[in-house]
Amino acid sequence: MAILIDGKKVAADILADASEKTKELKAQGKEVSLAVIIVGNNPASRVYVNNKEKDCANCGIRSIEYALDENTTQEELEALINKLNNDDSVDGILCQLPLPKHLDEKIVIESISPDKDVDAFHPINTGKIMSGDYNLLPCTPAGVMELLKAYDIDATGKHCVVIGRSNIVGKPMAMLLLHKNGTVSICHSRTKDLAEMTKQADILVVAIGKAKFVTGDMVKEGAVVIDVGMDRDENGKLCGDVDFDSVEPKASYITPVPGGVGPMTRAILMQNAVTAAKISLSKKVVK
Ligand code: GUN
Repeated sequence: MAILIDGKKVAADILADASEKTKELKAQGKEVSLAVIIVGNNPASRVYVNNKEKDCANCGIRSIEYALDENTTQEELEALINKLNNDDSVDGILCQLPLPKHLDEKIVIESISPDKDVDAFHPINTGKIMSGDYNLLPCTPAGVMELLKAYDIDATGKHCVVIGRSNIVGKPMAMLLLHKNGTVSICHSRTKDLAEMTKQADILVVAIGKAKFVTGDMVKEGAVVIDVGMDRDENGKLCGDVDFDSVEPKASYITPVPGGVGPMTRAILMQNAVTAAKISLSKKVVK
């Protein structure tokens, strides 16, 4: 029987801390603010953006939504970002992805000031992860690290196996585990004999985007299993990349879906908005 890692509880603690810091900053005359850009009518993006704005409201963070038309041009979007980059009253900028196909996401990400990049998708921020010298971390991998910390799970000397090599989750995840002295393997769709790798994992982080992909026979007895997936099973029910029913009896710790990594991703965004406000404040003092 595994210990269930309660992401809702750990996220609530992080949100309470972000609220407290937001209040402290307000007392110093600094209102934490996040600009949220959404382009077009993607229904999933609308749900995500609504949730982010709700989280802001609950933490006392001012959110300013820019809902742009589906036909917004690259130039118009970049002009808005440029305006927000130069607006001292805006601490964080988030442009919800995916963007409509005619827009270049890479250029858009790179146009956001790295100091306001609460997603930490800008190459300056992703690059800083390599050196371990960072202010802003991508929300999901940072959230996983917070879960490990909350449950006193030390990566030192452990074989940490990450399935998935995305720029947003897999690669930064591997780097953060390395900074915590883990011995890290990154696996992906082309990895030969994936089960041989996963069976060696003391800490297994699964971010492959396939429902119930990791089954009990792929997991070592006593492994810590972190499920980053957010999928639908054959009955349309929300599930993760890990087949919880067959993996849970073998794991020492496991995250559920929902209620594991998901709430952490949301909470870290609020933490990043507070960090961006502190960066903005520190720049003002220097000026
Ligand atoms: N679309 C899905 N997840 C995310 C996210 O974390 N940030 C942004 N900007 N867009 C997303």
